[in-house]
Amino acid sequence: MEDKPISKQEILKELDNLQSMDLKYSDGRILGSMCTEAHPFAKEIYFKFLDSNLGDPGLFKGTKKTEDMVIEDIGRLLSADKVFGNMVTGGTEANIMAIRAARNYARKYKGIKNGEIIIPESAHFSFKKAADMMDLKIIEAELNEDYKINVESIKYNISDNTIAIVAIAGTTELGLIDPIEEISQISLENNIFFHVDAAFGGFSIPFLKNCGYDFPEFDFSLPGVCSITVDPHKMGLAPIPAGCILFRKKEYLDVMAIDSPYLTIKSQSTIVGTRLGAASAATYGIMKYLGKEGYTKLAKELMYNTYFFKSGLEKIGYIVIAEPELNIVAFNHPKIETHELADILKSYGWRVSVASCPLSIRVVLMNHIKKKHLNELLTDLKEIF
Ligand SMILES: Cc1ncc(COP(=O)(O)O)c(C=O)c1O
Repeated sequence: MEDKPISKQEILKELDNLQSMDLKYSDGRILGSMCTEAHPFAKEIYFKFLDSNLGDPGLFKGTKKTEDMVIEDIGRLLSADKVFGNMVTGGTEANIMAIRAARNYARKYKGIKNGEIIIPESAHFSFKKAADMMDLKIIEAELNEDYKINVESIKYNISDNTIAIVAIAGTTELGLIDPIEEISQISLENNIFFHVDAAFGGFSIPFLKNCGYDFPEFDFSLPGVCSITVDPHKMGLAPIPAGCILFRKKEYLDVMAIDSPYLTIKSQSTIVGTRLGAASAATYGIMKYLGKEGYTKLAKELMYNTYFFKSGLEKIGYIVIAEPELNIVAFNHPKIETHELADILKSYGWRVSVASCPLSIRVVLMNHIKKKHLNELLTDLKEIF
């Protein structure tokens, strides 16, 4: 920090310079991000609520209501009349909360001390963070040839120490949906906490289903599902940081409650203390503004772009890894090694991400990637071929 204050003008000039180093979603060159530019109306609301602290909700009763209404509304989208949960910073924190609830529940009611969690090989790395923080053992269940979790592998790995099973509705790398109905059944039969990570898919599967997409059940309609992660800051067009963790029973929040003596509430179940109310208010506002109609339109458009890109790739001769279920396409060149292809694309100005399972270039067809960008990308890919 400087000794003397610096003028606003000078600071803004420096910040503008720094910001000019950032990539802009609107350039359509960011191909591997699951986040996108927030809706302008959501940004407007965000600034109004910047000072609201959800960690002390007695002081910010109105903002707290926006959180409660978002959780309730998303719960209904996910087939539950009543759910219990919080708005958090994103999928990572939501997944950590789910695992913490499962761990505490198993410790309290089953006396499990050395817990294990079964996750698919395709799971987001946030579960590894959760396991590391809580000293849990991770067991990775194998994937089938279609890159979805192998149900037999889950059954094989269940032990007396299993505290949670995790499945994904919209995998990070390929956007695929695990066989959640079967896993729900297994969880019920074995009395094990079952968490569904729908950080990516939660804001599109329900809307696509409503307009005829044939997806299997993945939400609270399945009796074994205990908790679901959904991220409004991914497909919900809400500003970062907006994630949600939803629990079927209040007890799952209660087993994580820690006394919070100096605040306006008696206890907190969230990991974070001071929590941004702005993301919650903005999520509430944008959900009302777009409604089911707006989100259905968005999800459908992104799926059209997905199919357009996939067929464009195949026409040129690239190998598409899996039939897309959501708006992600992963592909390889028949001869050029994946990292080399990523470097070539980078030299053309594209920011791609490389998926690990299987090794491939992964494009997430978010709202900032328009048809014209896809045409430009396909032209470059054709030239590279
Ligand atoms: C399926 C899934 N879960 C969790 C996360 C973590 O979300 P965040 O980066 O918002 O913490 C991601 C991120 O891409 C994801 O794809």
